[in-house]
Amino acid sequence: MLIDGYGRKINYLRISLTQRCNFRCLYCMPKVPFTYQAKENLLSYEELFLFAKLCIDKGVDKIRLTGGEPLVRSDLEIFIKMLTDYKSDLDLALTTNGYLLKDKAKALKDAGLKRINVSLDTLKPQRAKLISQIDMLDVVIDGINEALKVGLKVKLNCVPLKNINDDELCDLLEFAKSKNMQIRFIEFMENEHAYGQLKGLDTEEIITILKKKFNFTPSFKEANSPASLFCLDDGYIFGIINPHKHDFCESCNRIRLSAEGFLIPCLYFDEAMSIKNAIRNNDINKALEILNNVLENKPEKNRWQSNIKSARSFSQTGG
Ligand code: 5AD
Ligand code: SF4
Repeated sequence: MLIDGYGRKINYLRISLTQRCNFRCLYCMPKVPFTYQAKENLLSYEELFLFAKLCIDKGVDKIRLTGGEPLVRSDLEIFIKMLTDYKSDLDLALTTNGYLLKDKAKALKDAGLKRINVSLDTLKPQRAKLISQIDMLDVVIDGINEALKVGLKVKLNCVPLKNINDDELCDLLEFAKSKNMQIRFIEFMENEHAYGQLKGLDTEEIITILKKKFNFTPSFKEANSPASLFCLDDGYIFGIINPHKHDFCESCNRIRLSAEGFLIPCLYFDEAMSIKNAIRNNDINKALEILNNVLENKPEKNRWQSNIKSARSFSQTGG
């Protein structure tokens, strides 16, 4: 079992497969980047698998694949199959912008993937283009429909932004509900790569908007999840994620691995250690030593409240 310096059990690994993305979302990486890592600096699927195996052997039973946009990495289904063949009951999920989903959904499902989260901030094509800087809405909706068709469980992620999509929150919830998908509204997290003029809505503001149309009450909280869940009168559940709080730090069960092999103990910390050389040398003991070291130094709480911004981009850590 993996235990951190504060006695928290770590059973959840998030792997960012690439920093690259085919979108340029205003809240994430609006400008054509900052330098990308050369391909040879990224861990291969075999190398990522070596580390994932080590974690699974130590009790990790939940893995999420993120980016950048993970589907821009070719043959992702191969990596998914490696993981699900190794542990068939692994809780494996993927976060995607949905652009490549229509063609990929079946292969992902066949490889053993069960759940995906798709970003959807608006149902208006022009706005979608404004937010992601690519004309993508129809393609993403087709991708979502295909994913549902092949039997993937789909959740939607929406970042509510003032004067951009704050008049659509009820419509987005209605859309998600009509397709039996949970939607989660994520408070915008300020970061130095985001477009400077953006203002996010906080949880109270999101609730006020949704209350104009829906009746709902707080629902149970899933263990280890940063999302607060709410239940409509008819039983439909949706979530709001407030990353600015740190009440979820107490029960944090996660660590992150970046595509270039950095083990990151907390999203809001710049500290990280590389497992790349250990893995490349097939030195599993060394990788485990580094993992234990990172866990030992995993911070108690995020530093969000003290206004220290991380220089690391969300496209490196997958949010
Ligand atoms: N604030 C909040 N959520 C963000 N995401 C990316 N950048 C931010 C940010 N600055 C979320 C989006 C997307 C997921 C990959 O990460 O909701 O769905
Ligand atoms: Fe790409 Fe996701 Fe970042 Fe948008 S939020 S630019 S889709 S990685």
